[in-house]
Amino acid sequence: MQILSDLKPGDTLGRYEILMPVARGGMAAVWAARLVGSRGFQKIVAIKTMLPEIGNDPAFEAMFLDEARLASRIRHPHAVEIVELGDENGVLYIVMEWVDGDTISTLNKQVRSTGGVPLPILLRIASSICAGLHAAHELRDDEGKLVDLVHRDISPQNVMVSYDGIVKIVDFGVAKATGRLHETRVVGQLKGKIPYLSPEQLTSGKVDRRSDIFSLGVLLYTTLSGYHPFRGRSDAKTMENILRFAPVPLRELVPDVPFDLAVAIERALAKDPADRWNDCASFQRTLDQIAIAIGTPVTDGDVGRFVRETLGDIVAERRKKLATAIQLADSRMSARGEGRTASSIRGDRRKQAPAGNTPLPATFAGILPVSLEEPPPKSSSQSPPASLALPVASAPPALVTPAPRARRRWRRRISLALLLVLLLLTGAALAARAGILPVPGEVHDLLRDGRSLLRSARELLRGLLERLSALLAD
Ligand SMILES: Nc1ncnc2c1ncn2[C@@H]1O[C@H](COP(=O)(O)OP(=O)(O)O)[C@@H](O)[C@H]1O
Ligand SMILES: [Mg+2]
Repeated sequence: MQILSDLKPGDTLGRYEILMPVARGGMAAVWAARLVGSRGFQKIVAIKTMLPEIGNDPAFEAMFLDEARLASRIRHPHAVEIVELGDENGVLYIVMEWVDGDTISTLNKQVRSTGGVPLPILLRIASSICAGLHAAHELRDDEGKLVDLVHRDISPQNVMVSYDGIVKIVDFGVAKATGRLHETRVVGQLKGKIPYLSPEQLTSGKVDRRSDIFSLGVLLYTTLSGYHPFRGRSDAKTMENILRFAPVPLRELVPDVPFDLAVAIERALAKDPADRWNDCASFQRTLDQIAIAIGTPVTDGDVGRFVRETLGDIVAERRKKLATAIQLADSRMSARGEGRTASSIRGDRRKQAPAGNTPLPATFAGILPVSLEEPPPKSSSQSPPASLALPVASAPPALVTPAPRARRRWRRRISLALLLVLLLLTGAALAARAGILPVPGEVHDLLRDGRSLLRSARELLRGLLERLSALLAD
């Protein structure tokens, strides 16, 4: 597999233009990118590319493909949507919906100084994670059989909350469906972040959905108390704690935590999967009941407000970076003369010929690598190379809208002709008045009054001008 080691803003992957780097993880990099369509349309997406260092490893490549194939089949508001799996000269990339938000990890760091996440907000977030995870766990194949998908890397870095308060689980990179996809076994490599691994992940490696419930328990315990239940001075000590020791009871750390909630989270943290929640749906139900008992109803909007207020400058910074990256991309596009940018089109309502660009599919079923050898869109007369972002708009054809200079010339000619007609009419009226020009009886009455004639001529002229300008506008 080839590697695109020097990917940078302005480069294109298939139909997408890279805007800016977002994150670099263990096996992949995440970028903000955009799909550019006609009439100033653009859609921001996130693109995940495999890191050059590991791209030559067939095991990782298979893992990367597994992520795309599995995650693309999950349809849930709390699981990030996979839009497309692309292949640029052998470089695989995953296109995802863009999450305008941040991770629970960032949120946790920030709330340390602001007194933690308020309980009702935390419960809403926890309930949403359960819902998204349950949808993943319940994924079925075409025959309706469970594929036994397990995320295997539930951690604060892999759960995002949008600034509108919507939870999105990301990174199904080590997700595995029993016996169906590539075995995620890479020598010497422990998948997932150690402090969030379940006891069975550390030992037998035989996991089911209850392993994710354990990891979610760790995430919730940490977010609620500010302390990790198992973290030791070294990875080895952390692993030992996960395998052998019960965490400090939550209510000893945070006495205000409702008893039921402490019990629910501690149940998720049981060493034996049989002692945990059976599935995320029952965990979610309990969390929702606790939320009702607390009596402070919370909406996604409240979660969003809390996230924005807590992250403050981080939100502004992230959005500013993206806005700047879009502006830069717009100016690159103008410099290449690829038509109008999203910002320049505002206020311009001229009719445009359809550009024939392919719209972004809303969903993507049965994901297949997108080959760059695909034939170009039929309706486009001059198709761009597949590796370039599509132009914003093609130049309007002359038949539809004349070029401005030709239009001005025509206007001048028509005005002159009208002036000539007016002069002729006035001349005729004057000649008729003076008795030089013989006129029929009915017209004679009209022409007798020179002022009335001029008024009529003026109205005639205005009507003509209006019709002409309507014709030109079309
Ligand atoms: N769809 C997305 N929209 C915006 N940011 C994202 C998206 N997916 C991931 N990220 C950001 O990139 C980081 C790494 O993504 P992830 O999929 O977890 O990759 P890795 O496999 O490297 O851990 C996330 O923690 C998050 O900050
Ligand atoms: Mg990750």
